[in-house]
Amino acid sequence: MNVRKPSAGFPRLILGIVVCALMAPIAWAKAPDPLQAAIRHGHHLFATGTFGGNGLTCQSCHTDGGMGPGRMANGHVFPSLANAAAIFPRFSPRAGRVVTLEDQVRACIAGALGGKPVKSGSLDMTDLVSYLTSLSSGKPIDMGGKPK
Ligand code: HEC
Repeated sequence: MNVRKPSAGFPRLILGIVVCALMAPIAWAKAPDPLQAAIRHGHHLFATGTFGGNGLTCQSCHTDGGMGPGRMANGHVFPSLANAAAIFPRFSPRAGRVVTLEDQVRACIAGALGGKPVKSGSLDMTDLVSYLTSLSSGKPIDMGGKPK
């Protein structure tokens, strides 16, 4: 027969509530920090993303996760991204207008990687910008300044 004693469910319900209440702080403590998760994913895209292009990644030119000097395949050396997020927006003579960090990321994807630029406002763009900004963390804002 499939008849339950009515008394069996209640203690189990109480036990369930108590267990959940005890577990909640553990689950809270283990939840990944959303900003750190965005920075980590941005770094992953920086190091491995080809964006459907010629096979290069950001790191092919921007060495050491962007902290080292930039190096082109032809040996040309250019500044690191160590303060990139602190100097945008800035005037780009090439574009003939003021550009943002997102514009620069899209330009490098389209030009250097020959890929499909990630859309402004997309999660991938947010994560790339989060990663690049983490490199500049603690550095003074120097809008329009020189790359280091
Ligand atoms: C083929 C080499 C190459 C690749 C690959 C490349 N870049 Fe660049 N990047 C450059 C060069 C050269 C410059 C500096 C000249 C310029 O402004 O275009 C630059 C400039 C930048 C700057 C501005 C730095 C500053 O302070 O002036 C940022 C930010 C940047 N790149 C991000 C990226 C990201 C993100 C990727 C990957 C999606 C990437 N780049 C891929 C060559 C590259």
